[in-house]
Amino acid sequence: MMGSRLIPYQGTGVVGRLPWLSSTAVGCLYLQNLLGGLVASQGSAHQCLAVAQGCQVMYNHFGGAIPAIITVITLVILSWRTPALHPRLRFLSQWAAILLLLQLLLGVATLYLNLQVVWLTVAHQGIGASLLGVLVVFSVIAWRDRSQATHIPPIRTIPSTMTGLEPS
Ligand code: HEM
Repeated sequence: MMGSRLIPYQGTGVVGRLPWLSSTAVGCLYLQNLLGGLVASQGSAHQCLAVAQGCQVMYNHFGGAIPAIITVITLVILSWRTPALHPRLRFLSQWAAILLLLQLLLGVATLYLNLQVVWLTVAHQGIGASLLGVLVVFSVIAWRDRSQATHIPPIRTIPSTMTGLEPS
């Protein structure tokens, strides 16, 4: 997060609502990761699959995936449809799409294989954290882009002496 605040960045000023959207996605992903941690730490998935107990915790995790999916997909589509978006933001949004897809596949596979394949569960946790990281970096850069657009005055190409207009 500190790194993405400090790297040199010259915004293009076209981010619009993307900073808000990415921050919302960060919130949804954070909560979803917490719900996932709860499922794993309580062994709810094991219990639910074996003796049909503790299923509610697991269902909460499935339900929590919906807002996370909606916000990330909306962010990816809007980024894709924003002309002149900074290449760094475009690159991060593409990574968010790839990681989301991977995460969903891993979640379904973990469940389908009855949590028997350990590396799948570990990868599900790792990709969940990476997706959150990508969205945090996207948000920090998008907010920087937005604040540059609102605080830096536009470059004057024609001197005011030639236009006769007073500088604002
Ligand atoms: C954006 C979507 C998702 C995120 C960010 C996410 C994140 C996580 C995280 C961080 C954990 C804890 C892993 C651990 O501590 O070992 C977890 C556990 C789990 N997730 Fe997800 N998850 C998502 C979607 C899904 C989906 C769609 C499914 C299945 C349909 C799923 C099934 C599971 C299961 C079964 C566990 C428990 C694994 C265990 O008990 O070791 N997840 N998830």
